[in-house]
Amino acid sequence: MNPDCPSFTLTSGLGSGSSKCPDFVSGCDKILKMESNPSLHEIYAGLFIDHCKDKFGWQDLTSDVIMDIGLGEKGNCGKAILAKFPDVTSIIGVDGNPQVLHKFKQESQTKIQCVVADIEKRNSLGYYEGRMNKVVSTNVFHQLMEKEEAFRNMYRLLKPGGEAAVLFIIKSISYEWLTEMLKNTKWKDAYRGYYEENLYKGGFGADQYKEMVEKIGFQVTECSEIERVIPYPSDEICKEDLYEMNGKNFMILPDLLEEFKEERFQVLLKLGARDAEGSPCFRYTHLSLLLVKPTEGSVSKTKGKTGS
Ligand SMILES: C[S@@+](CC[C@H](N)C(=O)[O-])C[C@H]1O[C@@H](n2cnc3c(N)ncnc32)[C@H](O)[C@@H]1O
Repeated sequence: MNPDCPSFTLTSGLGSGSSKCPDFVSGCDKILKMESNPSLHEIYAGLFIDHCKDKFGWQDLTSDVIMDIGLGEKGNCGKAILAKFPDVTSIIGVDGNPQVLHKFKQESQTKIQCVVADIEKRNSLGYYEGRMNKVVSTNVFHQLMEKEEAFRNMYRLLKPGGEAAVLFIIKSISYEWLTEMLKNTKWKDAYRGYYEENLYKGGFGADQYKEMVEKIGFQVTECSEIERVIPYPSDEICKEDLYEMNGKNFMILPDLLEEFKEERFQVLLKLGARDAEGSPCFRYTHLSLLLVKPTEGSVSKTKGKTGS
């Protein structure tokens, strides 16, 4: 394995065992080591849109209205679409947090229109129902408590024949790490960040999500778990980067700082954070879901439809 390149192992949720994921791997020369990639979100949003382009055969989007759910301050997914399809009719960036959209508008001059709405609440997006050609979302669904309702709302937003593409995290070493750290009262008392118990529901993977979206009425083009293993160049860089990443959510007294940094690194290693070459690494599992809302004529093939 090239140590500069994360390994990607794809397990198909459609039942055919393990296989390589060439479309995601093809972008791996852009993914260096952790410390040289301040925005993995941006890189994966770009790779995911390339992946959608290949799998759905996107070519001419000049008649398409696309909604990006959970736009974020940087608008990574919407911008990736614009970079590849500058002539797209329109991109509507939705975010539940008005401050996020305010920051996005201040920092980006794009044709992405911003809408404050909550994908878990149907009435906040009622106006757009049945009007979207495509709905995309990267790195958002793991934050949602009502995932099934969010998928159902995505279904409602689409025109018949419309496509949905969702990439989100279903397992993350950083969450496992935080769970471990908060078991120690010394660090728990110093924690000021957000922690949601059972954020990643154990035993809920590609097969369960496939069943969930099929029940809503989607046809599943892809439902795949993709394991990401991204190495750091050295232990020291890993320790510093981990601190940069979320250490600031802990109000650590200066005399405890070195102990904190060392312990968080040791906890990470305990969780299995070394790759085959011995480098400390960041691990998580993406779920890639590529879905189609059937057209009228094909509805009878999708039994138990509950999305309308
Ligand atoms: C981690 S950011 C991802 C941003 C961008 N999609 C990307 O890939 O970089 C998640 C965004 O989703 C938004 N979000 C979270 N829950 C939401 C919901 N229920 N409805 C709409 N947006 C939501 C957050 O406010 C945040 O801006």
